[in-house]
Amino acid sequence: MKRALLTYGSVIQLQARQNVIASRSKLVVAVQGTRKQHVDTVGPKVDRQKKSPVCSYNEWDPLDEVIVGRPDNACVPSLTPEVKAISSPQQWEFFRKFGGQFFPQEHLKKAVSQIEEMCNVLRHEGVTVRRPDIVDWSKAYETPDFKSKGMYAAMPRDILIVIGEEIIEAPMAWRSRFFEYRAYRSLMKEYFQAGAKWTTAPKPLMSDELYDQNYPVESVEHRYKLSSEGRYVTTEFEPCFDAADFMRCGKDIFAQQSQVTNLFGIEWMARHLGPDYKIHLLQFKDPNAMHIDGTFNVVGPGLVIVNPARPCLQSEMFKKAGWKLVEAPKPMVPDDHPLWMTSKWLSMNVLMLDEQRVMVCKHETPTIKMFESLGIKAIPVDIRFANSIGGGFHCWTTDVRRRGVLESYF
Ligand code: ARG
Repeated sequence: MKRALLTYGSVIQLQARQNVIASRSKLVVAVQGTRKQHVDTVGPKVDRQKKSPVCSYNEWDPLDEVIVGRPDNACVPSLTPEVKAISSPQQWEFFRKFGGQFFPQEHLKKAVSQIEEMCNVLRHEGVTVRRPDIVDWSKAYETPDFKSKGMYAAMPRDILIVIGEEIIEAPMAWRSRFFEYRAYRSLMKEYFQAGAKWTTAPKPLMSDELYDQNYPVESVEHRYKLSSEGRYVTTEFEPCFDAADFMRCGKDIFAQQSQVTNLFGIEWMARHLGPDYKIHLLQFKDPNAMHIDGTFNVVGPGLVIVNPARPCLQSEMFKKAGWKLVEAPKPMVPDDHPLWMTSKWLSMNVLMLDEQRVMVCKHETPTIKMFESLGIKAIPVDIRFANSIGGGFHCWTTDVRRRGVLESYF
């Protein structure tokens, strides 16, 4: 099923009805099915006047609180069509061999200690660090539509996005990630009880119809062509998206259709956010598109790190708006360092602590130099073993609170 509601470069600004399920003052509840009555509170007592602990509008305002993922118990997904579509045939051997098992234990141990160190550095820089629960991802599960095992809670960026005072759990698109939200529920409940707005996007069925079972994956050239036509392994059967396919810049949010994010999902987001936000659909030359932050990383007002290997087809629009697009230097990761789920471009997947400080890989000297030439102080940290399971600093985090207000930069 194909829908062509959105076009590249288009701005989605849908007049959504405000979802006033819960206003700040009163809740309207149906009593005995017919009579409506106003009550002051239902459920846990919340001080509605208190400031929400969740609040962030962009990727660079001063960071107060962040969720950092956990490598613990991370499992390798099986080589299903959706996994094939984001990896190169050279990586498949690994998935064939380890699919459904833990990632190599020695490697995970090193990842755990590197991420601990990253958390310490963040604390040292004045940021409150929160962690998801530890979950056993090797447990098999079955829904009426599919069977799978889990993957991990390593990349909060993929599943959680904060827009204003609202925290949204993405529906996800991989079967191995269907239950990933469970690791974050303690945090979500706490944030909600302290006044945040908490939303989960519609859970997909993830039945076979969501995946193009015949999606051609053997040749990279063919995939370039397919992605340029907007054809990905996920169909338009139902909305799906990963939160990391959205990049926040105040009133403007940039999104890419990808192997895990369909147009139906982007439209859900646009309609959900309503007229206060504009979602711009961007397209890149990327045969494995999944998560925009290794391709187009906005690091300041009007300042974007772009991936020279994945040009943006709408870059003129940014130049016209006076934005500065800076090409990421070539990554320094050696060829023999395993990156099981991504490219080397995690080098540009940095986390801004504020407009003047960036957390960047200690070994990526050219990237460090680039930031310094932009007047941004690099805070070097080494998470190379953590990179191997699928992400850089931006992926490993979700900013919960940044000090700033909703503005327009575009
Ligand atoms: N797909 C990107 C690449 O291979 C990596 C993006 C990772 N981002 C994330 N939020 N997990 O370069």
